[in-house]
Amino acid sequence: MNFTSDNCYGAAAEVIDAFQTANDGAAPSYGEDKLTARLNARMAELFEHDVAMFPVVTGTAANALALATLTPPHGAIVCHPEAHIVADECGAPEFFSNGARLVLAEGGDGKLTPAAIKQALKRLQIGLVHHVQPAAVSITQATECGTCYGLEEIFAISGLAKSRGLKLHMDGARFANALAYLGCSPADATWRAGVDVLSFGGTKNGAFCAEAVVFFDHALVRDFEYRRKRSGHLVSKMRFVSAQLLALIEGDIWLRNARRSNALAQTLAKGLRDIEGVEFAYPIDANSLFVRLPDKTVARLRDAGADFLDWGPSEGGRTLIRLVCSFATPEADVDGFIELARSA
Ligand SMILES: Cc1ncc(COP(=O)(O)O)c(C=O)c1O
Repeated sequence: MNFTSDNCYGAAAEVIDAFQTANDGAAPSYGEDKLTARLNARMAELFEHDVAMFPVVTGTAANALALATLTPPHGAIVCHPEAHIVADECGAPEFFSNGARLVLAEGGDGKLTPAAIKQALKRLQIGLVHHVQPAAVSITQATECGTCYGLEEIFAISGLAKSRGLKLHMDGARFANALAYLGCSPADATWRAGVDVLSFGGTKNGAFCAEAVVFFDHALVRDFEYRRKRSGHLVSKMRFVSAQLLALIEGDIWLRNARRSNALAQTLAKGLRDIEGVEFAYPIDANSLFVRLPDKTVARLRDAGADFLDWGPSEGGRTLIRLVCSFATPEADVDGFIELARSA
């Protein structure tokens, strides 16, 4: 019973098949292959936009390289304190940008707000040589708290960003889950709402190791290709990375998988909701739940074989835990977890 993360399960059957097919014969290396070209074309269709798309093998690389391209070394990137780029990437955005600063802005449910961004920007004086200069805003969709920005919320942030000359980056490690929740088109959820660059996630949603940086404006690509090479993310046998993303996109496997993991999270929430002592920290929009439980219950669940992460230390005899459903989580595990929680 593993709810620790959506990257704990393996790859979708379609991705394994595509990997096998990509293995046939020889192909040009370093992204010059037919599958990578096909992926670029499919991404353009998917987003209804001419895109510049670059596969990489981790979400950290996608975020750090995208942000480094948008930001000078003396720049600032505004993000939420829960953002993966500041909390869980070991300084990769700062490293790859040669020292740009991540500036924090608060907001409920893991989401930035225009008011909080404005507040953060107030502390940075444009043109003052002593201050880092605002360059970008980064939002995560779905957020690290399992919530999703509504389109109007993204619009409000992108409007502010544009009015201040900032670029908007979206960390979409769980973009598919957000889209499954919002029920809108990929175009509406990104460039039409003012997103400039997207880190498109595949790994959490059925790939082995495949993400892509998607630029909606070719002018922003600048030196990205050199940055990707220097970081070691220009994979020589790129066809295998591209094949994974193609397998997810063609046939809408990515949305099927995301709908399933979101639905499992809803089932879990429904089953846990009426148990005494259970409290949800955030609305459950996507595939992650943050649940406060009595420590005794947490210990019993673990003793019974349930795996999940504590999201902070115990406070007042209760611990906030994170439960993440994956595209491959067995339904029986969701039912089993609910049963265990009830009896615990
Ligand atoms: C929101 C978010 N962004 C980015 C990443 C980075 O992915 P990776 O572990 O592949 O570097 C993760 C992984 O947990 C994530 O949750």
